[in-house]
Amino acid sequence: RIELNGRAFRLFIQREEIAHVVHHLAQRIRQDYADKEPVCLIVLKGAFIFAADLLRQLSLPCTVEMIRARSYGAEMTSSGTVQIEPPVLNVRGKDVLLIEDIVDTGLTLRALVRFVEEHQPASLRIVTLLAKPPARHLRVPLTYIGKEIPSVFVVGYGMDYAESGRGLPDIYAVETSVSGQSPP
Ligand code: PRP
Repeated sequence: RIELNGRAFRLFIQREEIAHVVHHLAQRIRQDYADKEPVCLIVLKGAFIFAADLLRQLSLPCTVEMIRARSYGAEMTSSGTVQIEPPVLNVRGKDVLLIEDIVDTGLTLRALVRFVEEHQPASLRIVTLLAKPPARHLRVPLTYIGKEIPSVFVVGYGMDYAESGRGLPDIYAVETSVSGQSPP
């Protein structure tokens, strides 16, 4: 049990399980992209640790690009507005693998897919470490899902609560109920 910014969090996914999930995702992606040189598009900030672990296991001749998307700020619920930077992306004619840490409401992913598709990639697939229930209803190519989790707010392994907790090697879930992202 830990405390971040006055909130209690409990251990939710241990590092061994994360490593197992990442290993299996890498295996699937390596097979699917065997004859390709994808652009691995890392969604900052949350996906930086997941992407670092995944990329080291991919053994693919990929290139790496980064994109910043944010909608949560210091809150546990989405603001509903997704800010994307930079405004242009060099992926025309490329096979893009977008790397996300978590899909919750899907607002971020929807905005990112629209943004990437405007830049005319040859293909676009998404890998996310975690997906919450609303992700099942998304009309976007969510090809690789590491683990489905219930609607709890999580931190660690790159993910934050008001910028705290990103460096935690395990994933923690908030203990106290809050509106929006608390257990169903
Ligand atoms: C988090 C996370 C995803 C997004 C998922 O980003 O990294 O990108 O929220 O939520 P959604 O499916 O409800 O849109 P956040 O806005 O917290 O920015 P960060 O990655 O910099 O922490």
